[in-house]
Amino acid sequence: MSNPLFARKSVELLLEEAKGENRLRRVLGPVQLTALGIGAIIGAGIFVATGAAAHNIAGPSLMMSYVVAGITCIFAALCYAEFAAMVPVAGSAYTYAYATLGEMFAWIIGWDLILEYGVSSAAVATGWSAYFQSAVSKIGIHIPALLSQSPWKYDPLTGDFASTGAMMNLPAILVVVVVTAVLVKGIQESATFNGVMVAIKVAAVLFVIGVGAFFIDTTNWHPFAPFGWTGISFFGHRVAGMVDGGGAPIGMMAGAAIIFFAYIGFDSVSTHAEEAKNPQRDVPIGIMVSLLVCTVLYIAVVAVLTGMVKFDQLDINAPVSTAFRQKGLGWAEGLIATAGVAGITSVLLVMMLSGPRVFLAMARDGLLPKSTFGDVHPKFRTPWKSTILVGCFVGVLAGFLPIDALLHLANIGTLLAFVIVCAAVLIMRRKHPEIKRPFRCPWVPFVPIMGVLSCLMLMFSLPVANWWRLIAWLALGMVIYFAYSRHHSVLAKNRKK
Ligand code: ALA
Repeated sequence: MSNPLFARKSVELLLEEAKGENRLRRVLGPVQLTALGIGAIIGAGIFVATGAAAHNIAGPSLMMSYVVAGITCIFAALCYAEFAAMVPVAGSAYTYAYATLGEMFAWIIGWDLILEYGVSSAAVATGWSAYFQSAVSKIGIHIPALLSQSPWKYDPLTGDFASTGAMMNLPAILVVVVVTAVLVKGIQESATFNGVMVAIKVAAVLFVIGVGAFFIDTTNWHPFAPFGWTGISFFGHRVAGMVDGGGAPIGMMAGAAIIFFAYIGFDSVSTHAEEAKNPQRDVPIGIMVSLLVCTVLYIAVVAVLTGMVKFDQLDINAPVSTAFRQKGLGWAEGLIATAGVAGITSVLLVMMLSGPRVFLAMARDGLLPKSTFGDVHPKFRTPWKSTILVGCFVGVLAGFLPIDALLHLANIGTLLAFVIVCAAVLIMRRKHPEIKRPFRCPWVPFVPIMGVLSCLMLMFSLPVANWWRLIAWLALGMVIYFAYSRHHSVLAKNRKK
């Protein structure tokens, strides 16, 4: 296509570039990549969002919501894996879009990924703060109310944001600062640190399942779907199921759209392709294994939680640890809250590691200023300037916005990225069947089409305000693209020569 907006980078060029100077270190093997995946996946979603989702949106049928969201992610993961093996360079879905749909779509998805990783990180930092406060309260330390949460919170009864009387969420800001410093220092240290955190959190999850199972009272599972099995709307108009006081959909499907957040992160494995020792084999392994393990664990955790405590009595801030206190196991509460803090920290680490790598890829292509976003530190070999910038962005969001608003926005941004990746697999298979695909997504076109449809369905099951926020973010992105990126694109300049 001759229109520069749709100019594509060839896969050969991408692979050639990956051999150049100023690249990231290849240090990650399959176990580390899977650990990075699990590190990015199990976090605030299961430990925090599960409480409000079961309480207000899905009841015990949240188990099925996790199945629906898990299946959606498996479709998308198979598509991600095909691309990650074919184009194993930093940048993830952004790079895939550049190779298939052209520069403008690549920009849109890159810009969208920044939103995804930035806003998810902020949501996770807010969840971290809730567990941190619950853990330290066990030893008598209480953060002053003024500094303990965001100044606003979402009220599901009215659909409005109400003032909390607080000034900011200081623990959330501080954890972002610490994680940013760790990431500037380097990936090797980060991956080791992550490994320890992942071990702690998987142990905590297994503990919750193993011990909690003895406290299940099956009468708590009735009614199983108190808010119905659907909860789908279309731009604010109810299509199926019930709505809350603010008009937002509720029910099993609406629950899937919310707790989809718990699965975000497996895609970040693909952003580390450039740091993998054997990306073609290990990145698909990392993506699929981490996703499958988490799906099984999640369903078990929700079955146990909603079996231990009636859904309408689940705690909204730290539901997993509090359920054990509600059952008289105070000692377990402290243990789980501490492990929750460790587990959520590792999510934050991987999420905040991914954003700067998307910036890096975009800067290398000239779509963002290279001096800032493309600068790899001479000693640490990390994209340090963009890491610090992302840290500031995340810190501000985490300090001042409530978790629900952040979570919904992160979900819609991620789902959009998944839609584009699934569609791009179909396009690429048709246009370039000859390219070597070390991992092939099975049952094409069924899997990519189901990926697109199921992601769209979850997007429509989110409160409508998120669509407007997403559209506003993308519009801002288009302004930057037409004002700056288009004129500085390396690909466009080479084509003119
Ligand atoms: N999946 C990640 C979490 O639940 C983002 O924290």
